[in-house]
Amino acid sequence: MQGRYFIVGGAGFIGSHFCDTLLSEADTGHVTVYDSFQSGKEWHISHHRANPRFSVIRGLVEDIDLLAECMSGHDVVIHLASNPDIARAAVDPEIDFKAGTLLTNNVVEAMRRAKTPRKILYASGSGVYGDTGEVEAHEDYVPMTPISTYGASKLAGEALISAYTYMFDMKGISYRFGNVVGPRQTHGVGFDFVRKLSHNPRELHILGDGRQLKSYIAVSDVVNAVLHAHKTTSDRYSYFNVATGDYVTVTEIAELACQAMGLEPRQVKFVYAGGDRGWKGDVPIVRLKLDRIAATGWVCRQPTRVALQESLAALARELKEHSNDS
Ligand SMILES: NC(=O)c1ccc[n+]([C@@H]2O[C@H](COP(=O)([O-])OP(=O)(O)OC[C@H]3O[C@@H](n4cnc5c(N)ncnc54)[C@H](O)[C@@H]3O)[C@@H](O)[C@H]2O)c1
Repeated sequence: MQGRYFIVGGAGFIGSHFCDTLLSEADTGHVTVYDSFQSGKEWHISHHRANPRFSVIRGLVEDIDLLAECMSGHDVVIHLASNPDIARAAVDPEIDFKAGTLLTNNVVEAMRRAKTPRKILYASGSGVYGDTGEVEAHEDYVPMTPISTYGASKLAGEALISAYTYMFDMKGISYRFGNVVGPRQTHGVGFDFVRKLSHNPRELHILGDGRQLKSYIAVSDVVNAVLHAHKTTSDRYSYFNVATGDYVTVTEIAELACQAMGLEPRQVKFVYAGGDRGWKGDVPIVRLKLDRIAATGWVCRQPTRVALQESLAALARELKEHSNDS
């Protein structure tokens, strides 16, 4: 692996794992993190601070002049910055435009102005497909009809990247992740359950009816998929689903969260909010076809259950070790 990487949102959950993997490769030239630290944490990346191949810029993607100036001279942008709270749009409808679509526009426009980097790797999501029911979404075989403003912002981001690669001679890859889990998670269902159980180990409030069925992929598998497709794909613009291919229900996650917290699930009362989904815009069943990413030679190492068990154990540890860290 070669090059100088500019990670927008690099102090966040997934971004910090990109830092770890890239800096473990002897032939990575440099890794620069550009982050506002809104949900990103200093402790996620502090173990790299002394590395001469690593630097951090505290900045907003909204500051397009600073963004363009700082990214100049790099080879590849990994763009991860966005609103982490998918449910918030119900009370703040413009959040995903301002902290999603607009940020992606700024990233590609900064690339155009700066002239380098010429390639972008973009964290999209399964939300671009909308609610496909039991249908497994193949990248090209289902209509793109998001049911959340978060999904709409991811789809708009993909469209902008496709257009910029065509008009301004860049390259880009969009990755439609399923749910991503692992150490340093900053949000998500497992993160919520572990926190709720630490406050009240007798009762756990669960959004929806607990039967929502989704895939949860280990962050290490996501990072490997992204970098593997980056190295093996030379197309101007391409897009991949990235998930495990197996699924668990939210009630199963609640049981695993109890175990990670040292609790016997039968002794915790599960209280369901009801309805078939967690919030307006939530997609209760997410199934993604994975033939395209598999054809690049990428192999998912951890099935959903194992990825969840490891991430919940890490979250329980981090709750004790880092609850006061910035
Ligand atoms: N975690 C998942 O399950 C998942 C699933 C699908 C897609 N994604 C996408 O992957 C990306 C990374 O997700 P994550 O879970 O690591 O989230 P995260 O919130 O931990 O990381 C995002 C980072 O971006 C930074 N950021 C946000 N707004 C910014 C701004 N205006 N200027 C500068 N920095 C800003 C935050 O401080 C944070 O460090 C996001 O785009 C997310 O939508 C995540």
